[in-house]
Parts: sequence; structure tokens; C-alpha cells
Amino acid sequence: MERALLILKPDAVQRGLIGAIISRFEQRGLKFQGLKLMQVDEALARRHYAEHEGKSFFNGLVSYITSAPVVVAVVAGKPGTVELVRAMVGATNPAKAAPGTIRGDFGVDIGRNLIHASDSPESGERETAIFFQPHELIGEWNRSLDGWI
Ligand code: TYD
Ligand code: MG
Repeated sequence: MERALLILKPDAVQRGLIGAIISRFEQRGLKFQGLKLMQVDEALARRHYAEHEGKSFFNGLVSYITSAPVVVAVVAGKPGTVELVRAMVGATNPAKAAPGTIRGDFGVDIGRNLIHASDSPESGERETAIFFQPHELIGEWNRSLDGWI
């Protein structure tokens, strides 16, 4: 099994796009193992984005992700799930993201790019553990879905 953490960032929540974005993953056949609304505090944001510490956009990124509630989710599936999720999300800069991707259909600004998705299976595990307690993740339900992507 492979997992990706998704964060529907404050702009996605405030613009009323939770349903539209979640729908895409449901319609593609991906399965949710965890899903919740939360406010990210600064410590959590810094931990999640630790790989970007020191970069020019880091402080702005932390301010943005902590500015208002987000929806966090874990999608799980067979090997390749993380790559598929990243393809659905699109390029980091929405202005360059292909139409048909989430960022390419809903955004124009790299600083307001709507959604985070783990970039590797290892990141998926690390980020899932940061945002979810084990009891918040539905295991049996997911395991019964062999054959789905
Ligand atoms: P990154 O992990 O490179 O992108 P992705 O979200 O596609 O995995 O960067 C994390 C976030 O940082 C990105 O979603 C938006 C923000 N960011 C900027 O604001 N400016 C930049 O130049 C980059 C590379 C990222
Ligand atoms: Mg990234």
C-alpha cells in the first residue's frame, strides 16, 4: 500500500472548493483513509515544510498555511498512488499547471496554489504521521478495496 497526504490549503477552503477537490479524488477511484478540518499551528507548519527551511518563500509559506483552517486527508492505494495524486494536482506554479489538473483549473498564483500533496511514498508516510494519529486512519475499510487504484 502507498499513501499520500493532501492538504486543502486555506485558499481552497475559503473559496468553497473542498467538495470540488475531494470529488476529483473520489471520482478517480482513490480511497480516503483519513479526512479532517483543522487549523495548522506554526510548529506543525515548520515541521511539515522542514525541507524548505531557509528558502526565500519559507516564511510566507508558513504564514499562508497557518492563516486559516485547512482540510487534511490521506489517500491510500496500490503502488503508484503518490505519482497519480501528484499528476492530478499539477505543477507547483498554477500559472504553469496543465488544464485538467487541480492547480491548473483553479489557481494562478504559486503562493496560493490550493493543495499540498506528498511527493514520494516516503514523504507520504512521514507527513501522514505528522498530521494523523493511528486511530484516525481507517485501515480495514481500505484493505477491503483491492483492485482499486
Ligand atoms: P514544493 O514542495 O517545491 O512544491 P509542491 O507543493 O508542488 O510539492 O514547495 C512547497 C510550497 O512552497 C509550494 O506548494 C508553494 C510554495 N512555493 C513558493 O511559494 N514559491 C516557490 O518558488 C516554490 C518552489 C514553492
Ligand atoms: Mg513539496
